Amino acid sequence: MRGKVALVMGGGAGTGRATALAFAREGARVVVADINETLAQKTAGLIQAAGGEALAVRADMASAADIQAVMEAVRSTWGGLHLVSNNAAAAPPNKALTDITEEEWDRCMSVTLRGVWLCLKHELPLIEASGGGAIVNVASLSGLRGDPHQGAYAAAKGGVLALSKTAATEYARRGVRVNTVCPGGIATMGMEFYLQGMPELRQKTLDVHAMGRLAEPAEIADAVVYLCSDRASFITGHDLVVDGGVLVRSNVIDL
Ligand SMILES: NC(=O)c1ccc[n+]([C@@H]2O[C@H](COP(=O)([O-])OP(=O)(O)OC[C@H]3O[C@@H](n4cnc5c(N)ncnc54)[C@H](O)[C@@H]3O)[C@@H](O)[C@H]2O)c1
Repeated sequence: MRGKVALVMGGGAGTGRATALAFAREGARVVVADINETLAQKTAGLIQAAGGEALAVRADMASAADIQAVMEAVRSTWGGLHLVSNNAAAAPPNKALTDITEEEWDRCMSVTLRGVWLCLKHELPLIEASGGGAIVNVASLSGLRGDPHQGAYAAAKGGVLALSKTAATEYARRGVRVNTVCPGGIATMGMEFYLQGMPELRQKTLDVHAMGRLAEPAEIADAVVYLCSDRASFITGHDLVVDGGVLVRSNVIDL
């Protein structure tokens, strides 16, 4: 990825930080965009300390103006864009469908689905103008299967899957591949916050994974970076499940 410019939306922590570090290890110059500027700068600092090149930008994925400003920063700093992970999302509190408020629904959609569309709208032309590249949108098993008490999040992630396939077909002959990664549980601060609020779910959450554990953020990052790499040059419109065996677990009987 030497000579390429990579962007991670939501690169300040968790999977996004691991992805930014993985892009940098592959030789890319990395733009770390995050709603939390301090976290974005921390990730950029880690890349620079390891000898890489990084730029931190504050941006809310729900804001078209912020996303346009990121594209401007990328263009003016490094002249183009090639590789992207649209990674940030907003998960609402656990609630039955009938209890979700309109505000909770709208906030979740504004980042998790509308935000990914806004990113694609501005990233695709810039990548095409830069000679081509690849985008990975981080979705979720929730988008493939639904998710009890996470209806807005599941619907938004399902939308991300459909949007990604649409982008993949629109840009397949224009030099941009678009795929998704669908993780199971990841050991991030977001997941830890969720489990601390509902300790009774901790063991159950581990148990739904055939491997009996959560993913390390780096394990999801590796899948994202692979799909962005030339080794995946004939892969577009694909949803790569990286779930430690959640989907197959439903067929496993404990003997
Ligand atoms: N953690 C899991 O178990 C899990 C499972 C499946 C899918 N995912 C998906 O993986 C992705 C990353 O999740 P994570 O757990 O690593 O997240 P995280 O909570 O650990 O970190 C997310 C980062 O995104 C930033 N962010 C939040 N809202 C933003 C916004 N509106 N604009 C820009 N940046 C924003 C945060 O500041 C933070 O730096 C998300 O799309 C999430 O839905 C996570």
